[in-house]
Amino acid sequence: MSRLDDCYNIHDLRDAAKRRLPKAVFEFVDRSTEDELALRNNRTAFETIKLKHRALVDVSGRSTKTTLFGKEISLPMAIAPTGAAGLCWYEGELELAKAAARAKIPFTLATGAMTSMEKIAKEANFRLWFQLYVWKQRELSYQLIERAKNNGFEALIVTTDTIVPPNREYNARNGFLLPFHPTWRFTRDIMQHPTWFATVLLKYFTTIGMPRNENYPDPYRRPIGTDPGTREVMRQDSLNWDDIRIFRDKWPGILMLKGINRVDDALKAISYGVDGLIVSNHGGRNMDSAAATLDMLPEIAEAVGDKATVILDSGIRRGSDIVKAMALGAKCVLTGRATLYGTAAGGEAGASKAVGFIQTEMDKTMAYTGLNRVDEISTDIFFGDRRTNRLMAD
Ligand SMILES: Cc1cc2nc3c(=O)[nH]c(=O)nc-3n(C[C@H](O)[C@H](O)[C@H](O)COP(=O)(O)O)c2cc1C
Repeated sequence: MSRLDDCYNIHDLRDAAKRRLPKAVFEFVDRSTEDELALRNNRTAFETIKLKHRALVDVSGRSTKTTLFGKEISLPMAIAPTGAAGLCWYEGELELAKAAARAKIPFTLATGAMTSMEKIAKEANFRLWFQLYVWKQRELSYQLIERAKNNGFEALIVTTDTIVPPNREYNARNGFLLPFHPTWRFTRDIMQHPTWFATVLLKYFTTIGMPRNENYPDPYRRPIGTDPGTREVMRQDSLNWDDIRIFRDKWPGILMLKGINRVDDALKAISYGVDGLIVSNHGGRNMDSAAATLDMLPEIAEAVGDKATVILDSGIRRGSDIVKAMALGAKCVLTGRATLYGTAAGGEAGASKAVGFIQTEMDKTMAYTGLNRVDEISTDIFFGDRRTNRLMAD
């Protein structure tokens, strides 16, 4: 029996990923920053909301389908940009994009991906979004925008919350740093994971050589770990609203800002013509004292109303989490780690399992709470008001 057959939820996929990946790669995916407060807070916010069953409603015709930016998707979920899928599995981004296309949900390709947008557009084209980090030489980023446009990407997501490189101390401990210097610890770590070595690293070496950040503009498209450009895109401290104005001019499609966590920023984004706002703290990976996104969501969603599409990420591990986020005003969620664990555990099949688990759980939550349609989800299903829930938990 394959390991995937032993998995029944995202936690099992995480365990399978942990067994398969070198510790340094697993921790890069799984952990967050400093004392990991934001990572825990994100989960606590979901876990402390309790729901009420509703009795005797015919829910036999229920569906998790919804419409996002005018087109139907099979459930209110899309794949978040993650630069690491290509380290979890050989061409992991492609595997994940294929799983998303099969499930009929959008897939976001990260600037830091190891698979090119041309390849993704050719082989896994359902609804494709491109996430942008900017270079100090903005012209290089404009080239990427042009490439995404030429490859038919539907949306551009500008990440706003990675202002400076985060303090991910475990990466240093694991010898997982840029520029990459092989340490005895990291080499031993790889040797202890021969399946990963053979099916991921060796497969790259015997096909394309050392994997590259395939979407970096030409001067920086060099093997991962040797490229100082990676550090530059992680240093975004000059990014500002004037850039958003330019991106809006250059990008005719759907434009979203990721990491908008305040009402005033949300309203300002709308005034710049942004179509979507992603309430996100990067899965707790950047600022450790960040508030849980689910806690910030209601006031942002209320202020935004129908002037833009509000999406939430950070902490989604179960289908019931989607129901809770939608009740508090999100139109859709993104999953980062949940679907990465699936990719690491079994490529496209593992990623499909992850999406499938979440969809089944969402469907069951809708059934228990007496809901047939996604647009019926509201705080009416919450036990007490949300504040009471949280105070009881505190
Ligand atoms: C390993 C990893 C790499 C990530 N890389 C990026 C990235 O390149 N760009 C970006 O905007 N967000 C990135 N993120 C953040 C995700 O897009 C998303 O905001 C976050 O994972 C959501 O939290 P969750 O993992 O709890 O679902 C990354 C997240 C992880 C786990």
